[in-house]
This record gives sequence, structure tokens and C-alpha cells, in this order.
Amino acid sequence: MKKDTDAFNFINGRWCGRSGRGERFETRNPATGERLESFPQSTPRDVDDAVRAARKAFDFWRKVPTTRRGEILLKSMRLLEAKKEAFARDMTREMGKILAETRGDVQEAIDTAFYYAGEGRRLFGQTTTSELPDKFAMSIRAPVGVCALITPWNFPMAIPSWKIYPALLCGNTVVLKPATATPGAAVNFVEILEAAGVPPGVVNLVHGSGATLGKRLLRHPDVNLVSFTGSSAVGAGVGEACGRTFKKCSLELGGKNAQIVMDDADLDLALEGALWGAFGTTGQRCTATSRLILHEKIFGVFLERFVEGARSLKIGDGLDPAVQMGPLVSGRQLRNVQSYVRIGLRQDGAKLLTGGKVLKQGPCRRGFFHEPTVFLGQPHMRIAREEIFGPVAVVLKARSFDEALSILNGTDYGLSGSLYTRDVNRALRAVRDMQTGITYINAPTIGAEVHLPFGGVKHTGNGHREAGAAALDIFTEWKAVYVDYSGRLQRAQIDVPKS
Ligand code: UN1
Repeated sequence: MKKDTDAFNFINGRWCGRSGRGERFETRNPATGERLESFPQSTPRDVDDAVRAARKAFDFWRKVPTTRRGEILLKSMRLLEAKKEAFARDMTREMGKILAETRGDVQEAIDTAFYYAGEGRRLFGQTTTSELPDKFAMSIRAPVGVCALITPWNFPMAIPSWKIYPALLCGNTVVLKPATATPGAAVNFVEILEAAGVPPGVVNLVHGSGATLGKRLLRHPDVNLVSFTGSSAVGAGVGEACGRTFKKCSLELGGKNAQIVMDDADLDLALEGALWGAFGTTGQRCTATSRLILHEKIFGVFLERFVEGARSLKIGDGLDPAVQMGPLVSGRQLRNVQSYVRIGLRQDGAKLLTGGKVLKQGPCRRGFFHEPTVFLGQPHMRIAREEIFGPVAVVLKARSFDEALSILNGTDYGLSGSLYTRDVNRALRAVRDMQTGITYINAPTIGAEVHLPFGGVKHTGNGHREAGAAALDIFTEWKAVYVDYSGRLQRAQIDVPKS
């Protein structure tokens, strides 16, 4: 990352300081408490400058051939590959997840670059016939304009890449505002884009809180599209603001994902999947397995093994290759997990089977560590319905497949769901009946691949899907084109020739 963190805004192709005075925020290694960098918060004026640069650049960028835009993406992919290890290490230091996962995060950006680079030679529309003679009809994809991209800290490079790459390939320009917990990953990523030859003004970067900068972006008349990933509570406000100003808006929000384990499942496989889904990324994925629905026939035996597995996870600094679970990203996130543990115990009356405490010893003494936590609960409880975003799994019992499915569907969220079974009939019923955007059979709730649509139903979003070909629908507008070569006025629906 750049040494001079006072020059951290990237506006119109230049790394620059913020305009005027303002607050600073700092990043700390959540595993050790070590202070990393201090960043001056960008000001609303910086946001205005960034939007102005993006607006100006849009006029030429939208006319650059899509194949050429794809080539720049491909170049950035190669540069990312060369930096993968260094960026993964920076990311583990900045937000805590283990090195295997931060390597995966950078890899997800690499895969995304590769996918959309190829799209540079597709970006298909349709050609069709006309109801009138000597008339040609087709649909083409047109860019939307200036896109404000507001991204979270849990996938600090992957999620910005899901937004930036399709946005650029389609001919849009962007202003990225990453989470204040992970400004370093965003700077690393934008430096790669710059080095790959993205022209000035096409990608701009500002840093600061959603409350000030995010709001400014939402209200800015020159922003045409907002793509936001974060909580459903904040997302609802983003959607409302965009509705008022007619901005295109894509929301990727919370989840309360469940894994069902049926009595005929491969239990070893289901166990591995449940532990990875619940405690990978310290539970800080919107796809995390926060509910485990067990068929009553395997309930006792599976639960025992799951609790045992949770207890034996090695916790510590994610840079240590033996560590399986890192810290929470921040003190705030740790307090949030603690408050849900209290809700589980006091308000819900759930039974705590393991965990529940902050870790303060040994390799965990300086960071924001929390024990992997397992509750035995009931579907109506708050801990079984609200997104916790931490290493907390709530186990629920079902007497039948139908009951399991109805428990799985019984929350406001609908991101991902998983079923472990050997029964093909049940598997296909789950594919049909799970109210989720992503359904896994015999695989955990996490681990979506970048060429498939990512997103969910109900309070998880507003009907859009990121990644793959689906994201093109976010970052383009359809334009219908009619070319009449008859040389006369032909009136659709009126002058249609009759046989
Ligand atoms: C997120 O949790 O915000 O499917 C994204 C997965 C990852 C992406 C998760 N590929 O778990």
C-alpha cells in the first residue's frame, strides 16, 4: 500500500489529500491491537470532486470499445495475481480473517476480472424481427453512468471487484467508498486498476463513514446508480434515498442462512460443512451458517460432534498457518456478538452448549476474539431470526423434512440455504422450495462462485443479483433500437400488414 496515507483519495487519476480539515480514522490489526495506519476522512467536497471526475470521464469511457475495456481488466487480473500473497497478508492484518481466506478473497477478485474481461467480447443483446416490413429491431446494453459503490469490510477486495469490474466493462465510471475498517485493501485494489491502465476519472476512491460520505453520494444529482452491500437496516435507507432521486439501486444485504442435516446424510461431510459455514470468516459472511437444522433421528449424535468440533477450533492470529479462526473485525463487532449472546441467554432463554465468552488469553489476549458459540434454540427466538455476523450458530430440531424446510424459510432473510441428504427427491424439492437466492445440496452455505448470480430474496436485497452475467443487468440499461429502411412512415400496431 502507498506509504503516504495523507494522499489516499484517488480522484481524476491522482492520489491526493482531502480538501480542508476533518477527522481522521485509524486502522488496527484486530488480532494484535497493533496500530496500522491513520487516514484522514474524506470530506463531502472530495465526494463532489470524485463524482465530477467520474461524470467527465464517463463521456469518453462509454465510447471506448468494450473489448478494449476487457483488455484492461485482464491486465489488472495479471497484476493482482502477482500481488496475491502480499495483498492477502495486508488483508489479514487489516481485518483479521485467516490467510487461506484472504488469499481466497484476492482470488475472487482475480476470477471476477477474468470473467468480465471475457465479457468484453460478448455483452450480447438480441436481434429480432419487426412486425413491419423493411424494419430492423435489436436491443443493446447501454451503460448507466456514474456508479457509487459502497462496500463492506468482510470481503475487502472481492466485493469491490464484484461491483467495479462489471461496472467498468459495461462503460460506467465509479466512485468507490469502502468500509472504514478496510481502506488499505481498497487502496491496494485501486492501485492495481491504475497500473492496468484504467484512465483518469474512471475509478475514484474516497474514504470515510457512510453517515457523511455515503449520504452525500446518495443525494448527489450526478450519481446514476448506487450499489450497496451491508446490513438490511442500512440498505432499506439506501433504497429509500435512491427511490426519491430515481437512482438505479442494487442492494446486497443480510442473511440468516441455515443448513439442514437429514437423517440419511453423510454425517462426516455435513459436519465439516457446518463447521466451515458457521465459523469460517469468524461467522462474518452474509452467507454464514447461523442456523443448523437437525433431523431428530441424528440430532443427539450430530450435535455432540458439532459442539466438539466448535470447541476444538484453533483460534488466533490469522497469519499463523495453524489457526482456523481469526478475531472479529473490531471491538464494535465483538460487542455486537456479546450482546446477542446475552439476548440468547436472558431474553430468548436458549441453552448455551459451548462458547459465549470473549477470549482474553494466550494468542488472543490483545485482539477481538470470541469463542465459537453454539446455542440450542427455537425458531421464534431472536438469535434464530436476526443476523449476528459472528461465530454463533443456533441449533434447531426438526421432526421431518417439511418441518426443516419451513424452519429454514421462516425468517425475513433469503440469501443461502443448504441441505445435506442422499435422497435425490428431497434434494430437488429443496431446490424448488427453499426461499433463497442460493441453494446448496451437500455443500455448506458459503462459497459462491463468481460466474453464478449472487444475492437473495426477501430482506436480503431488492431483486438484483451480483456476479456473473446477472450483474450486467445492474450495470446496464436495455436500449431498444429500431431501424426503418422502408423510406416511409410505418405506424406500429396500425400499419401492420394483414394476410
Ligand atoms: C459475503 O458474505 O458478503 O459465497 C460474500 C461466499 C463468498 C462471498 C460472500 N464467495 O461465501
